[in-house]
Amino acid sequence: MSLPHRVALAPLTRCRTAADRVPSDLHALYYAQRASAAITISEATQISPMGIGYPGTPGLHTESQVQGWKRVADAVHACGGRLFIQLWHVGRVSHPTWLDGETPVSSSAVALRGETRLANGTLVPAVAPRALALDEIPLITRDYVTAARNAMLAGADGVEIHAANGYLIDQFLRDGVNHRRDAYGGSATNRLRFLREVTEGVVDECGSARVGVRLSPTNRFNQIWDSNPHELFTLAAQTLDAFDLAYLHILEGVAGSMSAPAEGCTPVAPSMRKAFRGTVMINGGYDAQTGDAAVRGGLADLVAYGIPFIANPDLPLRYRLGAPITPPNQATWYAQGANGYTDYAPMMHAEPSLANG
Ligand code: PHB
Repeated sequence: MSLPHRVALAPLTRCRTAADRVPSDLHALYYAQRASAAITISEATQISPMGIGYPGTPGLHTESQVQGWKRVADAVHACGGRLFIQLWHVGRVSHPTWLDGETPVSSSAVALRGETRLANGTLVPAVAPRALALDEIPLITRDYVTAARNAMLAGADGVEIHAANGYLIDQFLRDGVNHRRDAYGGSATNRLRFLREVTEGVVDECGSARVGVRLSPTNRFNQIWDSNPHELFTLAAQTLDAFDLAYLHILEGVAGSMSAPAEGCTPVAPSMRKAFRGTVMINGGYDAQTGDAAVRGGLADLVAYGIPFIANPDLPLRYRLGAPITPPNQATWYAQGANGYTDYAPMMHAEPSLANG
């Protein structure tokens, strides 16, 4: 896949789907508006009903969801872009109200501390997940593979395996949550097993050139942490290197940004870059200058931008021209409908037309 430049759209949860969690024409317009990204990475998308943890997030496990994503892929392609759909299972970051009363699953029965927000807005105490039984793990791997197949059926150019930010795969990777004593816990190699199996399955399904993996070695989002992120994530990069992936996506932000390494952690991305010989994408608080410096300095080949793309659908053009960057309105990040979603104007060119789907 050859790309026009190095500015990717980072995955951004926007919570705009209806109860069926099907991407709509509004989603197609939103992504088409951002199709000038080198890669347009979708918001996190559930692989199965048990993977749900938030209101309004899309899925990729029903026929109508596949049709919804097909509209998105067609719209992105009509604007000359490339769509990767991010495959997501939240694991313990859920609540029985999202799961028809079932208990969320994780690597271990370690609960989030504090409260979680229900669909109706009420805050309730987080619920302890149950540890997946050994024979359930291949079923979840299969759900990732099925969702990847669905992404291909929808006409996406690829999938990104979401192994970051304290969601299910990360709950296996990091020893702050993974307390298992079987083949999926203990050593870094064992904790990497689930990611390796998911990657293997998805690569077999789609072909390695259509698969990216996202990791966040040093953030503590969703109360995740590891006692030795350098060892774990350098080994993760080495392990993934064997798959000849489309890219490795590393969320480790610049100092001072919300995804900067947690206190006491030094950046791991440089040693991951050395361990992974393929294309590396970096993400987290970059702007045009710091992103440029990261590429020139050899840390990454691509830079993903999330927040800057919200209010600047034509961000690559603005960066190229050194044009002003519009600040987003944080109050509408997770609002309803077009408000703060598809109503940010591009600088120059006309709105993408979706008249023919
Ligand atoms: C979120 O919905 O808040 C969210 C989803 C995926 C992420 C991070 C945050 O990786």
